[in-house]
Amino acid sequence: MMSKSNSKKDKKKTKKKKKVKLTASTVDKYELYQISVQSPEEDIVFLDETYRDIRGRSARHFREDFCGTSALTAHWIKRGRQYTAEGFDIDPNPVNWGIKHNLKPLGDVAHRATLHIKDAREPSNEAPDIRCAQNFSYWVFKTRREMLDYFSRAYKDLAPSGIFVIDLHGGPECLETMEEETEMDEGFTYVWDQDEYWPITNEAKLYIHFRFPDGTELHRAFSYDWRLWGLTELREILQDAGFPRVDCYWEGTDDDGESGNGIFTREEKGESCLSYVAYLVAQK
Ligand SMILES: C[S@@+](CC[C@H](N)C(=O)[O-])C[C@H]1O[C@@H](n2cnc3c(N)ncnc32)[C@H](O)[C@@H]1O
Repeated sequence: MMSKSNSKKDKKKTKKKKKVKLTASTVDKYELYQISVQSPEEDIVFLDETYRDIRGRSARHFREDFCGTSALTAHWIKRGRQYTAEGFDIDPNPVNWGIKHNLKPLGDVAHRATLHIKDAREPSNEAPDIRCAQNFSYWVFKTRREMLDYFSRAYKDLAPSGIFVIDLHGGPECLETMEEETEMDEGFTYVWDQDEYWPITNEAKLYIHFRFPDGTELHRAFSYDWRLWGLTELREILQDAGFPRVDCYWEGTDDDGESGNGIFTREEKGESCLSYVAYLVAQK
């Protein structure tokens, strides 16, 4: 069986930045999260190109569910005057951090984004062309009924030719209790901790820790209490929510044959691997 690693993390590993001595008491956990986990430039390119491939024109209004620090929203609006966005998150802390660090630096452009400190099931001000839920955040919904309700609301809220894009991860490795450490070029270690997993309910307790060269640690900087969902069942729930077409975009493999190459294309079956990240793209 071939193992693919998370392409987002791999891309981060190739970034060259000057190392500064970091320690747990002075770091900013949202900054470290963005460095370790997010690739908003690549995500926006994928979302934009996918919409254009499907609809033959550009999307204009974007909605980021579970937006946290609104990294994608900021990248969406800064591409031009026609691009507007809304973000939804229930926690004011990452939202306010994102306003200060991701939106305010954009100056007047920031007015093209509206952030809501609200549940992701709430309606948009304006029907989005693209709506997304990234980094598996929608796995807070633990029952089929809740997931169907969320997807149904997303379907109704989309613009008539809108698309709803969710990412997911899977493969046997994600069911193991284990810690995965990634040394970041920025001078810290990102730790993905699959701490607890219960096979009967598919629920898991997951954490992100950050460790530093001086031996200090930001323990449980982020905590997740999720149900782990399978690709096939999510696709079926999206169809039950009303989406007539749901495609899977599967990641290609690097020349080494081991890791993901960050290029996602529409595929029917995928391939057997220990760990993968994929997208489901649901068309209205
Ligand atoms: C894993 S973070 C995602 C941050 C960012 N979107 C990303 O892609 O990395 C999950 C976020 O979901 C938010 N959240 C959890 N439940 C929510 C809900 N029902 N509605 C809106 N936001 C929610 C949390 O406050 C947190 O900021």
